[in-house]
Amino acid sequence: MTQIIQDSAASAASESAKSHPMWSSRMAFILAASGSAVGLGNIWKFPYITGENGGAAFVLVYLLCIAIVGIPIMIAEVMIGRRGGGSPLQSMRKLVADSGLSSRWKWLGGMGMLASFLILSFYSVIGGWAMTYVGNSVSGNFVGATTEQIGAIFGNLLGNPGELLLWHTLFMSLVILIVARGIRSGMEKAINILMPLLFVLLLVMVGYAMNTDHFAAGFSFLFSPDFSKLTTEGVLTALGHAFFTLSLGMGVMMAYGSYLPKQVSIVKTAVTVSVLDTVVALLAGLAIFPLVFANGLEPGAGPGLIFQTLPLAFSQMPGGVLFGTLFFVLLVVAAVTSAISLLEPVVEWLEEKPAISRFGATLIAGLSVWLLGIVTVLSFNVWADVTPLAMFERFEGKTLFDLLDFVTANLMMPLSGLLVAVFVGWFMSKQITEGELKLGNGLALNVFMFVLRYLTPAAVLVVFVYNLL
Ligand code: PHE
Repeated sequence: MTQIIQDSAASAASESAKSHPMWSSRMAFILAASGSAVGLGNIWKFPYITGENGGAAFVLVYLLCIAIVGIPIMIAEVMIGRRGGGSPLQSMRKLVADSGLSSRWKWLGGMGMLASFLILSFYSVIGGWAMTYVGNSVSGNFVGATTEQIGAIFGNLLGNPGELLLWHTLFMSLVILIVARGIRSGMEKAINILMPLLFVLLLVMVGYAMNTDHFAAGFSFLFSPDFSKLTTEGVLTALGHAFFTLSLGMGVMMAYGSYLPKQVSIVKTAVTVSVLDTVVALLAGLAIFPLVFANGLEPGAGPGLIFQTLPLAFSQMPGGVLFGTLFFVLLVVAAVTSAISLLEPVVEWLEEKPAISRFGATLIAGLSVWLLGIVTVLSFNVWADVTPLAMFERFEGKTLFDLLDFVTANLMMPLSGLLVAVFVGWFMSKQITEGELKLGNGLALNVFMFVLRYLTPAAVLVVFVYNLL
């Protein structure tokens, strides 16, 4: 007995020896959370899925998904984090204890952490591609290049495991360097420089696109809907993307929420972050589509839109080297601020162990992610024919990278989002929600609870089931 008391006293002492930092202000949190939200999803994925799904009608559905699914789940995740005050696993543990629920719910936090870990392993490889494109652009490799030549640059990159590994390593090193320095002196400082840079670069790119003859075409592609182009598939893609782009279902918003000062309004902050994220996605579309149309290219080119189609646009236009380079710098910046948020949940969890320092936690988590990233690196070349689930028709030709992407984006993310909504909507004590959100007892709180109890789970469930079948 005395042993137990001594042990817990010792661990309490070492716990309190590690102070729990806080973002320095509401603004700091907004920048950090938007840094997480704004990433490859906004600048790479949003434009190409919009292109594939016919433009404005898809954009409209996407906006709706952000409003009824994205924002409520973001509020719920930030609230869980702030109330729990620890890593996703630890926060869930505390909340279920406070609400007298089964401790199994804590695995909801665990799943988010695992998902962020897995995602970062391939996010970093793609971040590495963006870095090589800065190099390619600066050194004029795109100038006057033909479609075949640009395709070859991309193909050679993917075919070369050594080069992919090098850039993946550089990207992860940068992420580890920032995260290891901690919330205030590492992440906040980096974000304070990177986010304004991102906004300036984006505005420069949009300004440039406005001066092409095809800005109007790009604008109407994004904003004048033609509902005949909307498919069921498109609606589901929009919903899935709402999750990814707001960094939900990964424990990221829980981890960032755990550093949020008590007096800050969660609802206002979550809405601000979601709006910023959406504005950036739309601006990225406005920067990209006019260039695509001005050069007679295809908006529906798929995932290669940014890495193959866009360089072609830069190859043909005046100022292409400068603006191409700026564009890819923008992409790297966006990817870095998201990647640091993907590392944080696991780092925070490791840091909770009395024997592990922030630096040690970052190193352990970062090196493990780096190691796992090699699977993605090899999926494009040496292991391109390794398709472990090929016996199922659905997974034919899917590499290990494709499977990682599928499992995280299509299964773990929606499942964890669904469970967050169900947990806060149906199980967690309502007093916690009242106390954290301070919406009063009235209409606003009831609307929020209604959306979280019925609309959000129903919408997510549909996507989830569809993705499985
Ligand atoms: N939201 C990021 C993007 O749009 C990706 C991300 C997903 C980051 C999940 C963190 C967690 O690129």
